[in-house]
Amino acid sequence: MSDFSSLKTVEWKNNKVVMIDQTKLPNELVFIEFDNYDQVADAIRNLIVRGAPAIGVSGAFGLALAALQSKSQSKEQLLEELNKAKQILFETRPTAVNLAWGLEKIMEIANSGSSVKEIRENVVQEAKRMAEQDIEINKTMGKNGSFLFDDNDTIMTHCNAGALATVAYGTALGVIRATKESGKNVKVIATETRPIQQGSRLTAFELKHDGFDVSLIPDTAVGYSMANGLVDKVVVGADRVVRTGHVFNKIGTYQVATMAKQHGIPFYVAAPLSTFDMKTDAKDVVIEMRKGSEVTGIGNKKTAPDDIGVINPAFDMTPPELITGIITEKGVVKSPYGESIKKLFEAN
Ligand code: MRU
Repeated sequence: MSDFSSLKTVEWKNNKVVMIDQTKLPNELVFIEFDNYDQVADAIRNLIVRGAPAIGVSGAFGLALAALQSKSQSKEQLLEELNKAKQILFETRPTAVNLAWGLEKIMEIANSGSSVKEIRENVVQEAKRMAEQDIEINKTMGKNGSFLFDDNDTIMTHCNAGALATVAYGTALGVIRATKESGKNVKVIATETRPIQQGSRLTAFELKHDGFDVSLIPDTAVGYSMANGLVDKVVVGADRVVRTGHVFNKIGTYQVATMAKQHGIPFYVAAPLSTFDMKTDAKDVVIEMRKGSEVTGIGNKKTAPDDIGVINPAFDMTPPELITGIITEKGVVKSPYGESIKKLFEAN
């Protein structure tokens, strides 16, 4: 089996979309093939594919399938069908801005095409290009971030911002991979990331598989680990970064960042420019609420009484004052974030 840094989480093959079914990991490595956009929408909704960059590219591939599926004879009709598919894909998950970014990019290409044939070809080409670019971006971001980590660091990460959350290589785990590739020895502490355990099922699995020294902790042991000197630095991914530097990421990230601040531990976020949302205010970002059964059980085993009330937000917001730096493919931005993020976008 190849390493997860190069294994494709989502891929375009023979005019179909092929994805690793992440709901089956770590027990089985299963690939699923899709030939219509409704199936891709279901896959995003049901976390067969998850992680902000991976769902951005999946959305783009979904639209490419919609273009191929369409029987439209006119450009206008094809664009109408693509807009409908775009809306269905967009509504699958609300927090990661990469999904909207991927869909918008494809619609721009579609709108600029002059015939049905040209639109179909261009949309497929662009979606494939976005997937390839994702890998290059992660590698550059990884290198940019690797300078922030030292030999023998133990790095904590939360959720899965690895190869499995992107097309390949990863964002936060990409930084960890690049640090190791630069010759530094690093250890990783992965939080299990309840309720659906992207940390233990995906991060611990991916890193162990690729030969990293990784230890798994329950989410509740973050404070213990930091207070006992087990953590040198933290790096996490992001689902959305707004222009003020507020970071939206998997539920629990805010707690990790607060604990890091308490213990004077640098807390970094790794996010490509496609994860930045320069339009929306932090207070207007929609936090996805998921079903209660994710909390009242683990796998198929019930761990709570029937009919209990549940609050199950999938993401939380980490304020900029807790963040040491945001690593991007164009460099690392630091506080004051309002200014540094503005400059980053003006320069790119
Ligand atoms: O609900 P998920 O698994 O899609 O949440 C994923 C995360 O929160 C990741 O940390 C984030 O998308 C960054 S992935 C590079």
